[in-house]
Amino acid sequence: MSKKKTYFITGGAGFIGSNYIHYLFEKYDVVKVINLDKLTYAGNPANLDDLKNNPDYIFVKGDICDAEVVGKIFQKYNPDFLVNFAAESHVDRSIGNPEDFIRTDMYGVYVLLEASKKFGIKRFIQISTDEVYGSIDKGSFTEESPLMPSNPYSASKSGGDRLAYSYFATYGLPVIITRASNNYGPYQYPEKLISLFVTNALEDKQLPLYGDGKNIRDWLYVKDHCEGIEFVLQNGKIGEVYNIAGGSEKENIEITGLILELLGKPESLIRYVDDRIGHDRRYSLDSTKLHKLGWQQEHPFEKAMQETVQWYVEHQDWWKPLKSGEYLEFYKKQYPEEMPLT
Ligand SMILES: NC(=O)c1ccc[n+]([C@@H]2O[C@H](COP(=O)([O-])OP(=O)(O)OC[C@H]3O[C@@H](n4cnc5c(N)ncnc54)[C@H](O)[C@@H]3O)[C@@H](O)[C@H]2O)c1
Repeated sequence: MSKKKTYFITGGAGFIGSNYIHYLFEKYDVVKVINLDKLTYAGNPANLDDLKNNPDYIFVKGDICDAEVVGKIFQKYNPDFLVNFAAESHVDRSIGNPEDFIRTDMYGVYVLLEASKKFGIKRFIQISTDEVYGSIDKGSFTEESPLMPSNPYSASKSGGDRLAYSYFATYGLPVIITRASNNYGPYQYPEKLISLFVTNALEDKQLPLYGDGKNIRDWLYVKDHCEGIEFVLQNGKIGEVYNIAGGSEKENIEITGLILELLGKPESLIRYVDDRIGHDRRYSLDSTKLHKLGWQQEHPFEKAMQETVQWYVEHQDWWKPLKSGEYLEFYKKQYPEEMPLT
């Protein structure tokens, strides 16, 4: 019997990673997934509760910076593909505490690349971000645009991005890099603009809007992102970078208004707060390269936003413990220490 296609996913208990794992099990009848996640505050095994009895889904609690645990996964499961979602991902936190970002988003990528070089891998997908390009007033960034990251998060992601490329250029490792726009959708930790504002509005709490509210982000529905990643994994050319844009550029104030409108909440909930230090004004991506390869996004913004807001309305049992801190206490008991890999 031939071996099941095996995906080594890192950071799969987070927002995009958990959506991607769900996507893989929906797309393929036969697939095996190993999810290595450190379970930081942003990692939540409850995102994958529905898979916990599936023998083809293996969860390992551990750190991508730990070469021993990464090596054991390679030896035991011989994965075909590695998709690296694991990261410290919140810009505001990176301003207060850059160290964790440099460690995971750069050194962690190095550990995964080294293990992939040692044990072999058919595709190494490094999930990078549009933030590596920095801000742009007019026009859109292509994959050829210079990287001008401006905060410790985007700078450490740029390091991981280029390090992954160097393993292709230097050692011929089959690396592909994706750079996507801001994501929204189910299972997003309630600290990012959309998930925070939807959940705050549901609790009649204020929505803290940075600066004049006119910063522009390009919004990508997480399910389109997952399809884009898988499309690149299957069809992309090794050594290449692919932008994955949402094609829906909106000012933060517009998003805020839409959330309030969808929830029937008053504008008086908006509270303008001092701007984030070094706040990038506008992100914009050109996805022509990926479209030429044949990828199209499937979910129009308005409908996907309605579905997202509805998801948070219906899953208050998912996000309320995260906001109250109950979650951390609960999971510390469930997963007290690193899970041994025997
Ligand atoms: N959210 C976005 O809008 C967006 C857009 C473009 C790219 N990205 C990139 O996509 C990836 C996933 O983003 P997300 O929004 O799902 O992030 P997230 O913060 O929701 O999830 C990150 C996951 O990584 C895990 N993790 C952190 N450090 C780890 C370590 N050292 N070892 C193992 N696991 C670790 C966390 O526990 C968590 O489960 C990141 O690399 C991010 O840079 C995100």
